[in-house]
Parts: sequence; C-alpha cells; structure tokens
Amino acid sequence: MLLNGFDPASIERGADQLAAGRLLAFPTETVYGLGARADSDDAVASIYRAKGRPADHPLIVHVADQAGAARFAARWSPLAERLTTAFWPGPLTVIVDRSPPMGAAAAGGQDSIGLRCPAHPVARALLQAAAARGVAGVAAPSANQFGRVSPTTAAHVEGEFPADLLVLDGGPCPVGIESSIVDCRGELPVLLRPGMLTRRQIEAAAGCALADRGDDAPRVSGSLDSHYAPRARVRLMDGGQLKTALQVLGPGFQGLAVYSHSVPPLPARSGGPIWRTMPPQAELVARELFSVLREFDAKGVQLIWVEQPPPGVEWDGVRDRLQRAASD
Ligand code: TXA
Ligand code: MG
Repeated sequence: MLLNGFDPASIERGADQLAAGRLLAFPTETVYGLGARADSDDAVASIYRAKGRPADHPLIVHVADQAGAARFAARWSPLAERLTTAFWPGPLTVIVDRSPPMGAAAAGGQDSIGLRCPAHPVARALLQAAAARGVAGVAAPSANQFGRVSPTTAAHVEGEFPADLLVLDGGPCPVGIESSIVDCRGELPVLLRPGMLTRRQIEAAAGCALADRGDDAPRVSGSLDSHYAPRARVRLMDGGQLKTALQVLGPGFQGLAVYSHSVPPLPARSGGPIWRTMPPQAELVARELFSVLREFDAKGVQLIWVEQPPPGVEWDGVRDRLQRAASD
C-alpha cells in the first residue's frame, strides 16, 4: 500500500510500523529500501524472508546522524569520521567494526557493520521519527527480490512485494544507483562497491589513496556476478561492435532493446528494436538506468544491447552495474 512520504502523517505511521517491528519500504536518494528496525533480530529476519535473501548476506543499517551510527560501532575510526563528515547525509556506506551487542542479524553474523545516513528528505524524517520512538537504526537492503534490479520508484517496489507492504512514496530516486561502500576498518579505505561518489572525491575526503581490495575483503552480495540482472539477456559492447551487430541482425528484428550514446537510432519502424539514447552525463544515466532496464523487461524483450559508457571515473558506478547486469 502506497503512502505519500511527504505527508507528516505518513512519516508518523511509518515510524510506528518500524517501532512495532514490522517492514516498511521507503525512498532514499539512491534506491528504495526495505526497512526493519536493526535492533530487533526478529524484525530483521522478516527482511530476509520477504526478499528471498540468504541470511548470511549483511544489510546496511540506516541512521539519522553520525551519533546514531557510532552506537553500532565498536570503534569509530578517524577514517569513518572523515568520510562521513564529508559525505553524510548522502550516498556513502561505511563498513566499521561492529559493537558486539548491536545489529547481529542485520550484519549477517559478521563482526563488521555497514552504516549509512541517507539524504532523502523522506528517509531523514522517517529515521528521526523512528529514533524518537527508540529505534536505534533501520536495516534496509534495496527493496527488490534477491538478485533483481534495484527499485528507483515506489511503483517498482509495489510490483515485487505483496500488496499489504507499506511503501512510503518519495518520488523517483535522484541518484539512482546504490551507495558507494567504503571499508573503513584498516589504515587505508577500500572501495567495496562504486557508486556516484568518485574515487577522487573519496580519496580527497579521506586524505589518502584508496587501497586495492584484498582477497580477504568482506563479502558484498552486490558483487555476486548475477546481481542487478533484468530478465532479458544484457550484452555490453563498444559503439563499433554495436553498429556491426545491428547490421548483422537487420532492422526488423523483434525482441531487442538498445541503449546507446554514440550510435544513431535506426529509423523508427514497427517491429524494429526499442531504442533509448544514453544521456551524455553519468549522473543522468545513473538516475534512469534501473528504470530503463525495468522498462525494457516490461516490454518483453529477450535481448538488451548496451553501449559501454565513455571512459572516466565519474562512470565507475554505472559501468559496474552494467557489467553485473551483463554477466551470466
Ligand atoms: O544505496 C544503498 O546502499 C541502498 C539503500 C537502500 O540504502 N541499499 C543497498 O542495500 O544497496 P543492499 O542490501 O542491496 O546492498 C548492501 C550491500 C551488500 O552488497 C552487502 O553485502 C554490503 O552492502 N554490506 C553490508 N554490510 C556489510 C558488511 N558488514 N561488510 C561488507 N559488506 C557489507
Ligand atoms: Mg540490493
């Protein structure tokens, strides 16, 4: 059931729902989350059940501010302090050592925990109202079935869960891909999942270079290859390959969708490929990417051909999601 997230009465109702240990979907600036209070293992268990997600995959805990985050941490490292001061509220998740009594189920049994303070006004109002009811933090993975494309509108969420799930509608998510995840437990920060903060921005705020991911890097479920997959088969190609592939296939082929920035669309005709032009800015592509993939799926195509985004660190997050969507 949809509630207008900008209505204060909906925020109160949502916060009551969380305080009672029940599920609530809510908007963040990145994607919609499926939330439950992080300080109740039973409440958190219902997230795993609703998503069909294995219980050893850790969830991100959402908090209203740094002080709320520090309660979950055994040690709030100087690195976490610098990064969260620079980017919170915003699309950054920090991994820190977990305070043992806090968020065990949310952390999927790990001794670390992922913490994020979202910037979306509806999420902020909700987290503050929940905190006022004694909710220490809200565990929330993206509000999609396990392995599917993350939702960036309330309608996407509604389509994947039973009709009685409460969904706060905050409009389309302005960032559109999930937060950057930075492991802050070591001396140097490690980027576990790229998002819309660039490596350069993270390094500038950290005051040091990012370290490479070691083999013992913690498990990030988003890094399973088949993550973010639409139902159709996705192929990533450079502009030249895409042109050739289109010529080989012929313009009348049905069941194909194309998302390209440099190849001019084939002349519109009935039965030809569905065509979307990729915008020239990474921010714009990130914002629309998951809804474009869902739209293609909804039209029943079997193939989605995507042109590789241009080079440049600002495209890292988009490139990462496209590579995952394309791997099978
Ligand atoms: O933008 C976002 O981060 C969205 C919104 C809702 O905040 N959330 C999100 O959650 O993307 P989810 O569960 O779909 O992805 C969370 C990722 C997973 O890949 C998980 O493995 C990783 O965060 N993660 C969470 N806690 C972790 C931990 N303690 N150590 C390593 N990775 C962790
Ligand atoms: Mg997810």
